[in-house]
Amino acid sequence: MVGRVSVLLLLVLTFVHKLSFGHCQLGPELVARLTPETTPDVQEAAVRQLMQRVIGLRASNLFQVEVNKLLETSSYQISRLDNGKVLIAGWDGVSVCKGFHYYLKYVLNQDLDWFKTRIELSEQLQLPNVTLTSKSASSIIYYQNVCTWSYSYVWWSFEEWRAHIDWMAMMGINLVIAPNQEAIWQAVYTELGLNANEIDAHFAGPAFQAWQRMGNIRGWAGPLPPAHRRLQQLLQQLIVRAQRELGMSVALPAFAGHVPTAMRRVFPNANYTPAERWNNFPDQYCCDLFVEPHDPLFQQLGAMFLRRVIQVYGSNHIYFSDPFNEMQPPLAEPGYMRSTAKAIYNSMREVDGNAVWLLQGWMFLKDIFWTDELIEAFLTAVPRGRILVLDLQSEQFPQYQRTHSYYGQPFVWCMLNNFGGTLGLFGSAQFIGSGIASARIMPNSSLVGVGITPEGIGQNYAIFALTLEQGWSASELQLGDWFDHFALTRYGVNDTRLAQAWQLLRGGVYSFHGLQRMRGKYALNRRPGLNLNPWTWYNGSSVTDAWQLLLASREMVPLTDDRYAIYEHDLVDITRQFLQQSFDQIYVNLRSAYRKEQLNRLEYLAGKLLELLDDMERILASGVHYLLGTWLEAAKKLAPSDKLRPLYEFNARNQLTSWGPNGQILDYATKQWSGLMCDYYQPRWAMFLDAVTRAMQTHRPFNATDFKQRVANEIELPFSNLTKMYPTKPMGNTWLISNDIYIKWSSYAKETQFLHNCRLPVKLLT
Ligand SMILES: *[C@@H]1O[C@H](CO)[C@@H](O)[C@H](O)[C@H]1NC(C)=O
Ligand SMILES: *[C@@H]1O[C@H](CO)[C@@H](O)[C@H](O)[C@H]1NC(C)=O
Ligand SMILES: *[C@@H]1O[C@H](CO)[C@@H](O)[C@H](O)[C@H]1NC(C)=O
Ligand SMILES: *[C@@H]1O[C@H](CO)[C@@H](O)[C@H](O)[C@H]1NC(C)=O
Ligand SMILES: *[C@@H]1O[C@H](CO)[C@@H](O)[C@H](O)[C@H]1NC(C)=O
Ligand SMILES: *[C@@H]1O[C@H](CO)[C@@H](O)[C@H](O)[C@H]1NC(C)=O
Repeated sequence: MVGRVSVLLLLVLTFVHKLSFGHCQLGPELVARLTPETTPDVQEAAVRQLMQRVIGLRASNLFQVEVNKLLETSSYQISRLDNGKVLIAGWDGVSVCKGFHYYLKYVLNQDLDWFKTRIELSEQLQLPNVTLTSKSASSIIYYQNVCTWSYSYVWWSFEEWRAHIDWMAMMGINLVIAPNQEAIWQAVYTELGLNANEIDAHFAGPAFQAWQRMGNIRGWAGPLPPAHRRLQQLLQQLIVRAQRELGMSVALPAFAGHVPTAMRRVFPNANYTPAERWNNFPDQYCCDLFVEPHDPLFQQLGAMFLRRVIQVYGSNHIYFSDPFNEMQPPLAEPGYMRSTAKAIYNSMREVDGNAVWLLQGWMFLKDIFWTDELIEAFLTAVPRGRILVLDLQSEQFPQYQRTHSYYGQPFVWCMLNNFGGTLGLFGSAQFIGSGIASARIMPNSSLVGVGITPEGIGQNYAIFALTLEQGWSASELQLGDWFDHFALTRYGVNDTRLAQAWQLLRGGVYSFHGLQRMRGKYALNRRPGLNLNPWTWYNGSSVTDAWQLLLASREMVPLTDDRYAIYEHDLVDITRQFLQQSFDQIYVNLRSAYRKEQLNRLEYLAGKLLELLDDMERILASGVHYLLGTWLEAAKKLAPSDKLRPLYEFNARNQLTSWGPNGQILDYATKQWSGLMCDYYQPRWAMFLDAVTRAMQTHRPFNATDFKQRVANEIELPFSNLTKMYPTKPMGNTWLISNDIYIKWSSYAKETQFLHNCRLPVKLLT
């Protein structure tokens, strides 16, 4: 708790801080500007409640917490009191939570993740005496991508958010976004004179809002029920409050220029540009209007919108606005870019004199339009420190070097890693520590933080946890040690086989270092054809070996508590990975059999592919987090009325498969889930294998045009409209199923016929 004297001291310290000027002050200044106004008492209470949720009331009483603004920014101290309790003091709630997580993971050897949100501590636990001080090497630790809200959180209730926010705080995350805004826009548009039909034609359905907000689509999978807009606003108010109570700052949406086409009716004289067509969406669902930032209407709308946003959600003085996400600005002139950025920033500053603009750097990466000259003009039009850039995919395509550290504007090193929430083990562990280190030490670095920006979560937890820990740590984490300890704390048991399994994954699936754009499109998940070109970046036997080690260590993991659940989760995941990579390999051989007109080989391999898909369905059905049913039921549950349930189910199904009215972004957000496997991927491959086999039997070429039409009309497009229900509870014993699959496919791998028919490897790209 902070008394009056310490507040005074703090002010003096802040003042002294500010006297020294230069790049290195960007981070602390930003944090000072953005810090939520929740008092230390409120933050302490929030942390205590978090601890109760995570380790239970009894165990949480073994800890004492203190938020102390006299400590260094983003730092914590752990010590043991004479009464036997462990005191965790921190600069804010987040820092205390980070210290708490440190104690759990590095002192008690127990960890959490996205699915495991509670830890059971032994009744007899004596807390070890640890004395430690730690300060974050990053002023900002950032999390979220605008797409995560649609790919991962879309159907969540507050209960799920609660646990996720707890996790964020424990990882030291102190900046997030809150993009929901449709209720506010509805009020603004109505006040300006748009009618209900015009507004409905604009909002996309619940599963597609991220892209409608950025102007990529409009109206698709709508209409968005008015009750949905209200309920999501209430939900986001709860989320934002919970985050601020823990000390996090929340970036809110500001106007980015995209408006309904009907605005032309109401304001015929304003200066608009139609947004570029995105991914071939038809007119009905694309090309809203972009209001030129110089137009007075932009300023008027921007201020009107932001005032209401602040009324509804409060403010931490940071707002995000991404006017040109995956679309080109109308003019490639530095003067235009400068005045555009200025106009957007001014629309924020007019409402909040302390405004900081949070910008996703994705546009600089995605589009060759953005020359260095244009980027410089755009960024330097805003006063230094008043725009914060997310370098969105730093692990593969960093932009901070070519932009000379964003021309002095502060930026965050972000790892994206995942597109569309697809499954598949993937990552570049070796670039995280070195990438962050080199961004920190480059000349005139304006790096102020580290973040993670996955489009979807729910896979590859290790790689995200590693990035967040590296963000806090000033020194480079030693990967070998880190993964050993990860295995230890994940299952809560010390077993060399478990550690070895994770080391194999580190050196295999987590060692990607190419420039290829991996988008999770493994052959199994893609529309079948004879021209797919699967490739891999790791030696598949590392996955098979890790799988064997995991299977062999079953008796080590206690069945009695939730540690076994995470073990089963990983066992499903690695079995899934094995089947997916085996599918790729059988496929390249099948393709070769077709080209060489080897009918027997083709029939043999077609049979193996179908068998593999059955095995995939079986293993996935045994994993609680691999069920289509869970996704669909959560969507339906969110529908404000029974009548609207089909619309929600349609949204949920379409996002995973056709992604658009006619497969515009087909299979982009594909998921290897039970239900999808048996009723979407497997029938699709069966139709294909049947057509290819028949073509060869009748000595005719495979008719790809005909197949595409049939698969789209009979399987892909109808899937969005179906209403079949799927289990929300897992079926079968994961270990037994996994072991069965292991034995079966290991024996295939030794059979002469299999070896002969399946001899081609998948292309290894390094
Ligand atoms: C804990 O350890 C520190 C440093 O070793 C020591 O100063 C302190 O007295 C110990 N506290 C208790 C309660 O044992
Ligand atoms: C760093 O900034 C200084 C002062 O603005 C400038 O003179 C120098 O060229 C910069 N160095 C690099 C490598 O950009
Ligand atoms: C794990 O076991 C190894 C060898 O059995 C031992 O050296 C190590 O200290 C143990 N680690 C922990 C955290 O118990
Ligand atoms: C993959 O690893 C296995 C086992 O370590 C080895 O026998 C095999 O040669 C490797 N394959 C390639 C393509 O490097
Ligand atoms: C392939 O199928 C399409 C659509 O059914 C058909 O129009 C076309 O004539 C077929 N091509 C051949 C070579 O059979
Ligand atoms: C799915 O249903 C919608 C109406 O809800 C309809 O417009 C569309 O044509 C249907 N699609 C298919 C493939 O049946």
